[in-house]
Amino acid sequence: MGRAVIRALQEDPRFDLEIVKARRDKQRSFSDVAITTSKDEVISLGLDCVVVTPSAAAVFKGLDDDVIDLLESGTNVVATAAYHNPWMQNWASGGRASARRLLEACKAGAATLHGTGVHPSYMVERLVLTMCQSLDSVSHIRFVEAANFQGAPGDMWGGLGAMGFGVDIDEIGPQHPVAAGGDLYYGDVIGNVARELFDADPAEVRVERSYRGIPAEQDVVIGNETIRRGTAGAVHLVHRGYLGDHHFFTNEECWYLRDAVTFRGDDLPFGGFTTSASYTIEITGEPANLRSQLEFQPTLKGRDAITNGSVRAVLAAIPAVCAAEPGILVDDSAPSYRLISADD
Ligand SMILES: NC(=O)c1ccc[n+]([C@@H]2O[C@H](COP(=O)([O-])OP(=O)(O)OC[C@H]3O[C@@H](n4cnc5c(N)ncnc54)[C@H](OP(=O)(O)O)[C@@H]3O)[C@@H](O)[C@H]2O)c1
Repeated sequence: MGRAVIRALQEDPRFDLEIVKARRDKQRSFSDVAITTSKDEVISLGLDCVVVTPSAAAVFKGLDDDVIDLLESGTNVVATAAYHNPWMQNWASGGRASARRLLEACKAGAATLHGTGVHPSYMVERLVLTMCQSLDSVSHIRFVEAANFQGAPGDMWGGLGAMGFGVDIDEIGPQHPVAAGGDLYYGDVIGNVARELFDADPAEVRVERSYRGIPAEQDVVIGNETIRRGTAGAVHLVHRGYLGDHHFFTNEECWYLRDAVTFRGDDLPFGGFTTSASYTIEITGEPANLRSQLEFQPTLKGRDAITNGSVRAVLAAIPAVCAAEPGILVDDSAPSYRLISADD
């Protein structure tokens, strides 16, 4: 994400990329832009906005402190890790800055914070909730994201083994760290849906999760890792959102290694996907159910579509975040309209 955001900012005439903060000295050479490892140097520049794209694990290693320092200094922040709905509570909340604390930092620095990406943000909060606007009422949304991890960087999310790939099926369950980490993303999505569809407070929302492995159909060697037949060649992470007894949202992540087993979800209404990043949407409502599927079909080599879509979401958000009142900005799918004149 970091690399892709840098490239996109450099190519976009709306933005001046002033500096990149790398975590380690050895990363200094990766781009033709000023690079520092010092947070203070970034803060001293008085930038309009900082884009934050650290690993998900960074939320336990000082990410909130960094974001608070930026906000208090008056720097707006767009993040891809976390902040999609800081009011949603989860197991990690006790060790993290509260929404109230983040809000204080925004107020102190007159700055704005926003979390975005393909999912959370673009897929459900924008696309699916826009689809819901064609219905009188919605009782349930099923959203299925399927992605082939075979070409992912070897160290992504701690590596394939850390995600559960190649692990005994019996050892994969809802307490798996990757499944728990999903709460920080998909729990926030559920909170956003609850607010928009049912005007529900985050405190009213209950989130449950499950995680299971799908057996590899054959042995596969990927990088330094061997995925043995019968061990997990795909994983299925499901987050369910409830308001009381009402199960209103199901988020499914189907992460697979194509050569081991292709798993894009159970009982999909259409199927026929051919690519590595696909989505299924099933909305149950009145006066109709609404179903759709979409997939990214690559046209440029070396550009991961999900990463690219997240970069587009980041760039789209920057002007809005810079123009916003101080505070925490969340997506709004309400239709917006513009006046056109005779010259348009
Ligand atoms: N909402 C969405 O749709 C969406 C989409 C894509 C990605 N994301 C999120 O965006 C983030 C970046 O994704 P990615 O694919 O680029 O992940 P990645 O490949 O794992 O890269 C993460 C980067 O974060 C750095 N990092 C690790 N710990 C850090 C810390 N404590 N403080 C600051 N930086 C730290 C890593 O540096 P080292 O190399 O030095 O370890 C690495 O360069 C992830 O949190 C991901 O979940 C969200």
